Amino acid sequence: TVYTASVTAPVNIATLKYWGKRDTKLNLPTNSSISVTLSQDDLRTLTSAATAPEFERDTLWLNGEPHSIDNERTQNCLRDLRQLRKEMESKDASLPTLSQWKLHIVSENNFPTAAGLASSAAGFAALVSAIAKLYQLPQSTSEISRIARKGSGSACRSLFGGYVAWEMGKAEDGHDSMAVQIADSSDWPQMKACVLVVSDIKKDVSSTQGMQLTVATSELFKERIEHVVPKRFEVMRKAIVEKDFATFAKETMMDSNSFHATCLDSFPPIFYMNDTSKRIISWCHTINQFYGETIVAYTFDAGPNAVLYYLAENESKLFAFIYKLFGSVPGWDKKFTAEQLEAFN
Ligand code: DP6
Repeated sequence: TVYTASVTAPVNIATLKYWGKRDTKLNLPTNSSISVTLSQDDLRTLTSAATAPEFERDTLWLNGEPHSIDNERTQNCLRDLRQLRKEMESKDASLPTLSQWKLHIVSENNFPTAAGLASSAAGFAALVSAIAKLYQLPQSTSEISRIARKGSGSACRSLFGGYVAWEMGKAEDGHDSMAVQIADSSDWPQMKACVLVVSDIKKDVSSTQGMQLTVATSELFKERIEHVVPKRFEVMRKAIVEKDFATFAKETMMDSNSFHATCLDSFPPIFYMNDTSKRIISWCHTINQFYGETIVAYTFDAGPNAVLYYLAENESKLFAFIYKLFGSVPGWDKKFTAEQLEAFN
C-alpha cells in the first residue's frame, strides 16, 4: 500500500515583521511577529506526500524539478515529524510503521519562487502539514507550527488562516516559539490584500543572510526589538480584534518602514525596496490624504514587491488610483466610473 496526503498552504504577509534570530539553527526570533494569511485561492503551495515500505529514498520535487532534500532545514522537519509518528506507533502496535519508510514529496507554487513573495513560508508550511496529515499526528496546529518554524521562521504562521501571531518564546529549545491565531479571516472578512509585483527576479540578499547582518551591525535594530516591536505587537493585536483599520494600517506601514530602516542601518547596508517601491509608498500616503481617511496600507518584505491591505468597501476607490498609476488593473479595468477616473486627472 502507498499512503498519501495532500494539503495547500497559503502565503502569509507579515504586518509586524520577523527580522532577526536569536538561534539560527532552530529559527528562534528576536521578536514576536504578526501576519495575515492570504486565502487558499490566491498565492499558495500545494504539496503531496506519499510513503510506502518499498520506497528506496526520500525524494522532493519542487515545481516540476527534482530538488535536494539533504538540506538541514528540511531534514530537521522530517526528523521531528518522524519522531512524533514513532511515538504514536510505539503506543499502538496495530499502526503501520510509516515512521520507518521513505517519503516522496511533490510541491508546487502558483507564483514565482524567491521574489520576496514568502514562498519559503508557504513551502515549509505545506511540507510539514502534508506529512503531519499523512502521519495522522494528533498534535495541535500550534504544536505542528513549531516544526514548520525550523524549516523557515515565517512558515509557522502559514499553518493558520486569518490573523496570526508568532510568539517569540523564551526557551532555548524553542518549545514556546510557535504560531497562534489572533482572529479568523471570517472575523474580519472585509480585509483584502493586493500584491503589486514590481519585480519577479530572485532577491540578492536572502532574508536569512540579511537578518543576521542586521543583528550583527545595526544599532537601530536594538531599539526596534527592545522598545518598538513589543509595544506595536499589543497595539496591532488589539486593532485586529477591534477591526480598527486605521490603527492596523498605520502600525503596518510604520513597521514596514522600521524594518527597512534597520536594513539601511546594517553595514554594509541592505536595500530591498527600489524606486518603484518608494513611489508606491508615497502614492499610498497621497491616496489616504486625498480621501481624508486611511483606506490603504503598504508593506514590503525582503524584496521590492508591495503588498497592500485595504477593506473591500474601498476597493474601487483604491483601484481607480492604481489604474491611473499603472494604466491597468487586471479584471477591473472596465469597472471604473468616468467620475472616478476624472477625479485623478
Ligand atoms: C521580511 O522566514 O524567510 O518576510 O527563518 O531564515 O527562513 P528564515 O527567514 P524568513 O524571513 C521572513 C522575513 C520577512 C518578514 C516576515 O515574514 O515576518
